[in-house]
Amino acid sequence: MNPFRPHKIPLFNSETGGLGMKGRKSNGLSIFVAVFIVFLLGMVMYSEDVKSIAEFPFSRFKVQEIPGGKSKPANSVQVIAKKDAEGTLTVTVSKNFREQESEETQEAIDVKPIVEEEGKEKTEMTVLKEEKAEEEKEAEDVVELPPEECDLFTGEWVFDNVTHPLYKEDKCEFLTAQVTCMKNGRPDSMYQSWRWQPRDCSLPKFKPRLLLEKLGGKRLMFVGDSLNRNQWESIICLVQSVIPAGRKSLSKNGSLTIFRIEDYNATVEFYWAPFLVESNSDDPAMHSILNRIIMPETIEKHGVHWRDVDYLVFNTYIWWMNSGFMKVLRGSFAEGSSEYDEVPRPIAYGRVLRTWSKWVDDNVDPNRTKVFFSSMSPLHIKSEAWGNPDGVKCAKETMPVANISRPLNLGTDRGLLVIAQNVTRSMKVGVNFLNITTLSEYRKDAHTSVYTIRQGKILTPEQQSNPATFADCIHWCLPGLPDTWNEFLYTRILSLS
Ligand SMILES: *[C@@H]1O[C@H](CO)[C@@H](O)[C@H](O)[C@H]1NC(C)=O
Ligand SMILES: *[C@@H]1O[C@H](CO)[C@@H](O)[C@H](O)[C@H]1NC(C)=O
Ligand SMILES: *[C@@H]1O[C@H](CO)[C@@H](O)[C@H](O)[C@H]1NC(C)=O
Ligand SMILES: *[C@@H]1O[C@H](CO)[C@@H](O)[C@H](O)[C@H]1NC(C)=O
Ligand SMILES: *[C@@H]1O[C@H](CO)[C@@H](O)[C@H](O)[C@H]1NC(C)=O
Ligand SMILES: *[C@@H]1O[C@H](CO)[C@@H](O)[C@H](O)[C@H]1NC(C)=O
Ligand SMILES: *[C@@H]1O[C@H](CO)[C@@H](O)[C@H](O)[C@H]1NC(C)=O
Repeated sequence: MNPFRPHKIPLFNSETGGLGMKGRKSNGLSIFVAVFIVFLLGMVMYSEDVKSIAEFPFSRFKVQEIPGGKSKPANSVQVIAKKDAEGTLTVTVSKNFREQESEETQEAIDVKPIVEEEGKEKTEMTVLKEEKAEEEKEAEDVVELPPEECDLFTGEWVFDNVTHPLYKEDKCEFLTAQVTCMKNGRPDSMYQSWRWQPRDCSLPKFKPRLLLEKLGGKRLMFVGDSLNRNQWESIICLVQSVIPAGRKSLSKNGSLTIFRIEDYNATVEFYWAPFLVESNSDDPAMHSILNRIIMPETIEKHGVHWRDVDYLVFNTYIWWMNSGFMKVLRGSFAEGSSEYDEVPRPIAYGRVLRTWSKWVDDNVDPNRTKVFFSSMSPLHIKSEAWGNPDGVKCAKETMPVANISRPLNLGTDRGLLVIAQNVTRSMKVGVNFLNITTLSEYRKDAHTSVYTIRQGKILTPEQQSNPATFADCIHWCLPGLPDTWNEFLYTRILSLS
């Protein structure tokens, strides 16, 4: 399956004082290389995949037009000769360049020409090097997008520690202590390596530069609660590795936190508004309020900050879940009102979403701005729900739910999703649904659990040994599940014009 086939051939060892020593002219070596390449050429010519000898080995890669107008190099052959310090010549033959992992590509680019002393070969190797850099760039620009009609959210979790995680926890300086589970003492790491495989198509490979090009000169903003912030932290880590130090920054101003990407003039922002509408929980720092009160018809105070954003990702769920009734203010906070009515959750949720939808319809230019709405992020509190009656919430869960033929009863309020869908269907502006609920329900292993912070401090060993009280089975470790949510967002952003 892997088209990358390394052949390691010991050429000369250092005891022989052989021809391969650095700084010595080595006609013998270049003859050997020439003969060897001819030998490889012979091998390759017998391969059915190779259409033309002209493609071998220093010519440009063949670029094939595929339906949809995107071009990608196909059926191409690459030969790289490499000699290490021990005089070992490594010749790598690769076909279908576009399938190569970028790390391998990088390694190949770093290869020093083996016969530096000889002008001709050097020139050829330099040309190869330049072409490779170009090809790599080209490969960067190409991904295969799933068909529009493919349901990305129906599928299964596949353990794939080759492609996942998409970044390393300790390589993303922007992660907050809330989500760095390994650093906070989590002993297992498999939760980072599950890839979502849709049933009828595949998610495109995540290429940060491709997303950054789409975001160039634009603003992407997540609006909502701490789960949306979880996803925002994830997307920063997904793109930040390709941005040089000093060209990226994080700044906070009230409810809005902005990640700036200088070289692309792009921002990835998070706006705290746990109910979307005005509420007494809007303070971005001090919002641990149990007596939550909302103003379901009032949104403008927040909405002014969402104007002229190019990609808006909304959510609101977890803050609704501490009671079946929502407290609705009579009057306004500004006037100092404090009396409220208790309204059944679905009624209040419908009122809020209609206010939100009207704001979107009145303020969003669909030719400029794409709007997303994320469905509920589930909780894993009742371990009987996944057949582990002796468990304590999500603590000690290290594997996803295996049996996905059985619906899980985690207490997720799916009625709210029905309302959200109903509301969005009647809108003028099209809304892309990110239907993350069911697939996230299988991820009982992915929560921060006791490997997180409480009131700004990492849990003490005593607290960690008391998951019944201290396990957080609402938020998610990073790298982890929210990276998958962003793979959906990435796929949609690339698909939209
Ligand atoms: C969301 O996706 C799940 C599968 O993950 C599917 O069963 C469900 O019908 C979808 N819901 C909506 C509203 O599309
Ligand atoms: C991937 O997982 C397998 C099975 O658990 C393990 O043997 C292998 O070392 C892992 N590879 C990496 C790169 O973590
Ligand atoms: C940078 O992006 C903003 C929109 O986010 C745009 O208004 C501005 O003109 C851009 N600046 C440049 C120099 O392209
Ligand atoms: C912070 O936001 C306020 C209003 O939202 C704005 O007036 C102010 O200029 C911002 N401050 C900075 C430092 O960006
Ligand atoms: C969006 O673009 C289309 C075609 O370019 C145009 O007909 C329509 O009026 C535009 N809509 C808005 C809200 O600007
Ligand atoms: C999965 O759940 C279904 C429905 O409850 C059940 O019939 C089936 O036996 C289960 N499969 C496994 C492997 O546990
Ligand atoms: C769906 O929306 C329509 C119009 O907005 C409304 O009349 C209907 O009652 C709603 N249905 C549900 C199930 O919310």
